[in-house]
Amino acid sequence: MDTSFWHNIWQRGEIGFHRAAAHPALVQHWSALSRPGAPVLVPLCGKTPDLHWLHQQGHPVTGVELSAIAVEAFFQEWGLAPHKDKTHDGLDSFSGENITLLQGDFFQLAPQQGFPLFYDRAALVALDHPLRQRYLAHLAHCLAPGAEGILITFEFDAASMDGPPFPVFEKELHDQPFFAVRCLARNEVTDSHGGLVARGAEKVVEAVYHLVKE
Ligand SMILES: C[S@@+](CC[C@H](N)C(=O)[O-])C[C@H]1O[C@@H](n2cnc3c(N)ncnc32)[C@H](O)[C@@H]1O
Repeated sequence: MDTSFWHNIWQRGEIGFHRAAAHPALVQHWSALSRPGAPVLVPLCGKTPDLHWLHQQGHPVTGVELSAIAVEAFFQEWGLAPHKDKTHDGLDSFSGENITLLQGDFFQLAPQQGFPLFYDRAALVALDHPLRQRYLAHLAHCLAPGAEGILITFEFDAASMDGPPFPVFEKELHDQPFFAVRCLARNEVTDSHGGLVARGAEKVVEAVYHLVKE
């Protein structure tokens, strides 16, 4: 899946993944992490209100997003006029109220200091299998030693529909070498994911994990 896929998605406004309010699993499980006020990295962030929610909890937040449309929409929707800059790694940086969105390819991100916290909702599951290993390696590379985060995934029969999103099962997470993984919750969410059902998924499960960089 190349970057033009996502640019087209945003251009056409086909953003069924976007939620109007902070994700309930984030609100419920973020307290499993105990680093008040520490910076949070949110890869593949779209324009999610989760960025704002994390900021409200007292964290400086850095999101990374390919689409300029998403970045512009985020600041517009929250009534912020961001300060524009460029990072040393060539990403365009937009900052307002301690929320920085870096517009560009996450795989180009090379932070000067590793982030102590991260949050992944609909990022890992947005990537096909070959890219997921690369994503987890790069995420770990962008984090400080011992960094931790919350990851939210979907589980469904992979043969039932074409991704994204792609199902990610717990075994795949335990098989990767970058993070220690602990499942915090697993709930069936079929009824609230009619879009996935319409595409062929029969049963959709959402899983929430606590990850610690090894
Ligand atoms: C399924 S959406 C999820 C967005 C957000 N996490 C949310 O919960 O609404 C995946 C997002 O990743 C972005 N994306 C995909 N590949 C990317 C990359 N290599 N670098 C940065 N952003 C990327 C897409 O533009 C899209 O907004």
